[in-house]
Amino acid sequence: MSTVKPVIVFNILFLTLLMQPPPTLPLPLCRSSCGSIAVNYPFGIDDGCGAPQYRKMLNCSTDLFFLTPSGNYKVQSIDYDKQTIAIYDPAMSTCSILQPHHDFVMTDIQSVIIPPSPDTVFALLNCSIDSPVLNHYKSLCFNFSGHSCDELYGACTSFRLFHLLSNSTPPCCFTAYDTVKYMSMNILDCTHYTSVYNTDSLKGVGPLDWLYGMKLSYSVADTGCDRCKRSGGTCGFDIETGVMLCICSSSVNSTRECAAGSAADMAESHTLSSSLQTSVLVLVLGVVFYLIL
Ligand SMILES: *[C@@H]1O[C@H](CO)[C@@H](O)[C@H](O)[C@H]1NC(C)=O
Ligand SMILES: *[C@@H]1O[C@H](CO)[C@@H](O)[C@H](O)[C@H]1NC(C)=O
Ligand SMILES: *[C@@H]1O[C@H](CO)[C@@H](O)[C@H](O)[C@H]1NC(C)=O
Ligand SMILES: *[C@@H]1O[C@H](CO)[C@@H](O)[C@H](O)[C@H]1NC(C)=O
Repeated sequence: MSTVKPVIVFNILFLTLLMQPPPTLPLPLCRSSCGSIAVNYPFGIDDGCGAPQYRKMLNCSTDLFFLTPSGNYKVQSIDYDKQTIAIYDPAMSTCSILQPHHDFVMTDIQSVIIPPSPDTVFALLNCSIDSPVLNHYKSLCFNFSGHSCDELYGACTSFRLFHLLSNSTPPCCFTAYDTVKYMSMNILDCTHYTSVYNTDSLKGVGPLDWLYGMKLSYSVADTGCDRCKRSGGTCGFDIETGVMLCICSSSVNSTRECAAGSAADMAESHTLSSSLQTSVLVLVLGVVFYLIL
């Protein structure tokens, strides 16, 4: 029965290893996703992450939201190659739901670095005949991809109401972001609006199947973030001064790039490989015990 002993010793050693808590990994300083949406440079969820110009533009509560003075808009997707972000205002009217209007307002910085794309069109609906876009600023209205604004009154259950109530077709206008940027809905004298994006690809597609929401086009200044990323860091900034930082781990911030071995993911792989070393050691010890006893 002497062979039982080493097996027991081996098993105890093996169980001890299994019961060890997993190696504690450093908490990431900058979350890199919110739900299913990846959050990369220039965006950041946590303060001090991403580019300073985009500070406090995103909120990851239940979902990812884009914050503006007129409200929080749900982020549908971010395309880092095309540098666009699709957002949706749950309080906006669409083809199927009529909701009270409110203005779409961006901060001055937002309207410069992340404005709605040229293929995002605003539809101003139920305008009064005195509306500036029907008079002096008529030239701001256009039709896109063969669609006229009046089509919405016929095709959408929500907007058909205007037609029914007035027993006529109230004026409306497809226009670009600049119009709503410079004129509030009160000045425009229209009671409702909706917005549609990817308008270039909506030829022959009915209003029920349009993409409601907005596509924003953002720009990023080259501040050397690639160099930081290549070295294993995350781009961020000093929240006091706004100066760019390359965040390497919870204890090391460098200005440009991370020194070899200082980045958080390197620390992580180091911890993992050392736990691998431990298990090899335990196995060797087990075999040694087996041979001795
Ligand atoms: C590194 O920068 C981040 C983000 O600005 C900050 O939260 C953290 O305290 C900094 N760490 C050190 C050691 O300076
Ligand atoms: C983030 O969103 C949540 C839920 O919508 C809200 O309660 C919170 O105030 C928001 N934070 C900011 C900074 O807007
Ligand atoms: C449409 O606009 C008129 C004023 O121009 C307003 O009286 C009416 O209530 C609006 N219709 C809806 C459904 O809001
Ligand atoms: C848009 O199309 C409608 C219907 O085809 C037309 O009556 C209207 O003049 C057009 N508007 C513009 C600005 O071209």
